[in-house]
Amino acid sequence: MNRALSILATTISRLMANEPASASLHSPAPVTDRASNEKDLNTLSNYEAIKSQHLRLHWNVDFERNVLEGWAEHTMVVLEPGAPASRAIFDTSSGLSVHKVEVNGLEASFHKGVSHPVFGTPVKVSLTTVGLLSKGDEVVVRLYYVTAPTASACQWLPPAQTAGQKFPYLFTQSQAIHARSIFPCQDTPAVKMTYSARVRVPHWATALMSALRLEDKEFMEGDGHRMYVWDQPVPIPSYLVALAVGELDSRDISPRCRVWAEPSVVEAARFEFGQTEEFLQHAEALTFEYAWKRYDLLCLPPSFPYGGMENPCLTFATPTLLAGDRSLADVVAHEIAHSWTGNLVTNTTWEHFYLNEGWTMWLQRKIMARIHGDPLFFYLDAEWLGWPHLEESIAAFKDHPGLTALVPDLKDVDPDDAFSSVPYEKGFTLLLRLERIVGTPAFEKFAKHYIRLYKYKTVTSAQFKSTLLEHFEQDPRLVCLPWDEIFYAPGLPLKPAYDTARLSSPSLALADAWYKNKGGLEAEAHKEFMAWSTLQKQIFLESLLKRTEAEGPIPVPVLEAMDREYRLTSSKNAEIRFRWTMLCLRAGAKFIVANALDFVTSQGRMKFTRPLYKELYKSKMASAVALETFKKNAMFYHPICRKMVATDLGLCLAPDGSLEEGPTSRVKGGAWAGDLGARQKGKRTWLRVLRLPREAVIVLGLGVTAMLVVGAVTVVRHKRK
Ligand code: BES
Ligand code: ZN
Repeated sequence: MNRALSILATTISRLMANEPASASLHSPAPVTDRASNEKDLNTLSNYEAIKSQHLRLHWNVDFERNVLEGWAEHTMVVLEPGAPASRAIFDTSSGLSVHKVEVNGLEASFHKGVSHPVFGTPVKVSLTTVGLLSKGDEVVVRLYYVTAPTASACQWLPPAQTAGQKFPYLFTQSQAIHARSIFPCQDTPAVKMTYSARVRVPHWATALMSALRLEDKEFMEGDGHRMYVWDQPVPIPSYLVALAVGELDSRDISPRCRVWAEPSVVEAARFEFGQTEEFLQHAEALTFEYAWKRYDLLCLPPSFPYGGMENPCLTFATPTLLAGDRSLADVVAHEIAHSWTGNLVTNTTWEHFYLNEGWTMWLQRKIMARIHGDPLFFYLDAEWLGWPHLEESIAAFKDHPGLTALVPDLKDVDPDDAFSSVPYEKGFTLLLRLERIVGTPAFEKFAKHYIRLYKYKTVTSAQFKSTLLEHFEQDPRLVCLPWDEIFYAPGLPLKPAYDTARLSSPSLALADAWYKNKGGLEAEAHKEFMAWSTLQKQIFLESLLKRTEAEGPIPVPVLEAMDREYRLTSSKNAEIRFRWTMLCLRAGAKFIVANALDFVTSQGRMKFTRPLYKELYKSKMASAVALETFKKNAMFYHPICRKMVATDLGLCLAPDGSLEEGPTSRVKGGAWAGDLGARQKGKRTWLRVLRLPREAVIVLGLGVTAMLVVGAVTVVRHKRK
């Protein structure tokens, strides 16, 4: 039924957009073609006909209105002559509003296409004023626009939400498809462009971007504003354009590495990330020379939704890494690794995301093994943190097994909904399997070859596979692998044998002793725990979590005894605190609730925040307070985190960021069909209509028609802005 509805709705939207319907009516590519699928289904742009090569941004950062205002200018090259390139279609979203367009310096006509609830509103610019275009021709398209205060990439923090409490702060997070909320673009990793930017900010502010800062071109304006200028000479996809503006200070940690943070945090950040240069050198030894000249790090306010984000020249990092002992800095090794796998060699579409993240996990773990001077560290993290995380993700997607395939089908799927540890850990498992077939030295050599071959380019699964087979001269052990199963089978892969007992057995033995003896242990055993590394403590807690699953929760008095011995509730290490809190919530321990609420309201990193809210919500003791806490603190979170937690808690998030009771109108795993979102929830199918008031009326009518045609719709929800 969903499929029928989807075809109907897509046809309707095509008709409304005055486009031929035939393109939308063919069946989806057969599953076995997805490995070679280069078509990005998550963009509405016509990037296959005409493609951006260089982007110029001029922004005024307005902290009064919480908007970016200015223009984006794309220098584009024609790939397909004739009708396809008679216009350039750009992605926009979140209420970004274009008010003027110029093509080659002359004002040009443009109009908005039909909005898609996840992929936004295409802006279609006519190129007919420049005459018939041939393949290879260049056109310069400049779009004047203003973003909405609710732009999904931006978090505008009021002073109260900063460490300094004096000035506001802005940061962006564009991966995967949020760049379109801050500038009109071909928002697909398939398009790589160089960029330059001029950004005007209040005099007190420092602005940072994912590019090289041209200090000699910066200046102060008479009216108390400062102009910052950047250049990114290496071609990058739109999702790597990033901006942060706030009261910032910095410390150099090597000639090419600098740490940035709010003044009161900068010293802690300097210490925590002090090994960055060392990480970089190990990464270079595993690959080749670092291409981006600078590797700076910005430690963000606590609502930053990820652990780290590999924005080129300037990694963004969560302050939850500031454990005080450098024990969580492997996230930095991860972001450094992206400088090769992800930023130089980029997945062509989000369906091949594991080529970014799986390879990056592999490189990260290689770097960390070298940092520890012990090859076992390559496996330890994979076995005890990676594998359980993969199991959890696969269990969480039990209703959407398609999203647990290494190469999932993302047609009409929001990449934020598809995000999980599958591309990371299933991807890593594949690389480990290949490494074990050909041997470590040969595989490390292949990694260098592969990265060199695809640098500055994008890559699909089919290209990865053929490059591998070619490099190993069609080695039958590789040729004979069940490639279709590897790419498309949902669920867990075969668990690799990890022989990590030398490092993991003390943690497992202690966990076992707690289970068996309910805490009646020798003082010596406890002393040992306190001396352990963070990773060993995490393995201990992971092992308890796993056993809780199989053998039932640990009795609360035992948890209380454990807390007295190891002071876990007051741990300053976010990874330890997270696992401990989850363990206690699963055991129904009331004593942890206040601490858990403090945890979710003092940081907004999704890795912690989403499972904690889910667990609180699921528990009998804290369900209501979880909802109440989220509603009260919703604006503390970055829009992406807010959207995801709202979905997790069954709340409806309106476009202006406000929350309503009732199921979210976003589709989870269901099909977004053109402008109508249809999902099946039990027997109910929800239809959602366009944002534009005029079109909304039309689509509602068509929605009702759709209902009659398919005859199985029981509820129609209509939302008008
Ligand atoms: N690029 C990702 C973060 C990301 C992924 C943002 C998808 C938006 C969409 C980043 O490199 C990452 O993987 N961060 C991890 C680090 C960890 C695996 C060491 C994180 O945030 O926890
Ligand atoms: Zn990553």
